[in-house]
Amino acid sequence: MSDKKIVLVTGAAGGIGTEVCRLFLNNGYKVVATHRPGKEEQAKQWLQEEKLNGNDIQLLALDVSDHKAVSEVLSETLRDLGRLDVLVNNAGITRDSTFKKMSWDQWQQVMDTNLNSLFSVTQPIFNLMCEQGSGRIINISSVNGLKGQYGQVNYSAAKAGMIGFTKALAAEGARFGVCVNAVAPGYTATPMVTAIREDVLDSIKATIPMKRLATTEEVAGAVLYLAGEHGGYVTGETLSVNGGLYMQ
Ligand code: CAA
Repeated sequence: MSDKKIVLVTGAAGGIGTEVCRLFLNNGYKVVATHRPGKEEQAKQWLQEEKLNGNDIQLLALDVSDHKAVSEVLSETLRDLGRLDVLVNNAGITRDSTFKKMSWDQWQQVMDTNLNSLFSVTQPIFNLMCEQGSGRIINISSVNGLKGQYGQVNYSAAKAGMIGFTKALAAEGARFGVCVNAVAPGYTATPMVTAIREDVLDSIKATIPMKRLATTEEVAGAVLYLAGEHGGYVTGETLSVNGGLYMQ
């Protein structure tokens, strides 16, 4: 087996996920990139388009919102891999609506994908990392989990929940050498953000002190830092990358 460190990235084909995969590959990691089941062809196309092909990246079909399926797929994958050094819980969706109009489905889908997935995906990996005596778990939260965002009661609640999860798990992981942190990106140049209605996005940009979106590289760099040698004494923290959007 290769002695490269192994990172598993959920929702890998998204804007931030893609850049995280690229940066970890460029830094000598082996990458396991998850995508939704049934999207195998799109995932292969994504590898080609992003020029991520190679022996160090493997695709894994994983519906992070399906607890039973995650347990089954991960138990087999972790057995095959033998170890896992870094987990990046990146999969996330939006179902934006004002709360008055929000449906239970919009609430539930966001909770299942953004928050409940943390239980399903992280538990088997955390257990393995504790046995290994080392590991890094990085949860991609959001500035909107810190400050709350109009039209995102569901998303803000889930992303804030990820921060509580991060701190509590960090407390449990510390004595096993497992560091757990969150990265809270601000508005980042990804398809998720550019899908926001133009007038709404313009008004959001106007409130960002740096007056621009984050690049995916700037967010991925924070993830790499927390996974790497220099992040070894950081745990239970939330690293904001938001252009000053949420200053306290
Ligand atoms: N604060 C206060 N009032 C606001 C407001 C705000 N931030 N935004 C809108 N309003 C007001 C509007 O002025 C409007 O008032 P009037 O009825 O008096 O004119 C009212 O609320 C309705 O606003 P909309 O026209 O926007 O309502 P809508 O139903 O058409 O759209 C929405 C609602 C879909 C939620 C839309 O507002 C929207 O897309 N908002 C942006 C949500 C957002 O930021 N999503 C982030 C996605 S990216 C992401 O999540 C990544 C990340 O982590 C950062």
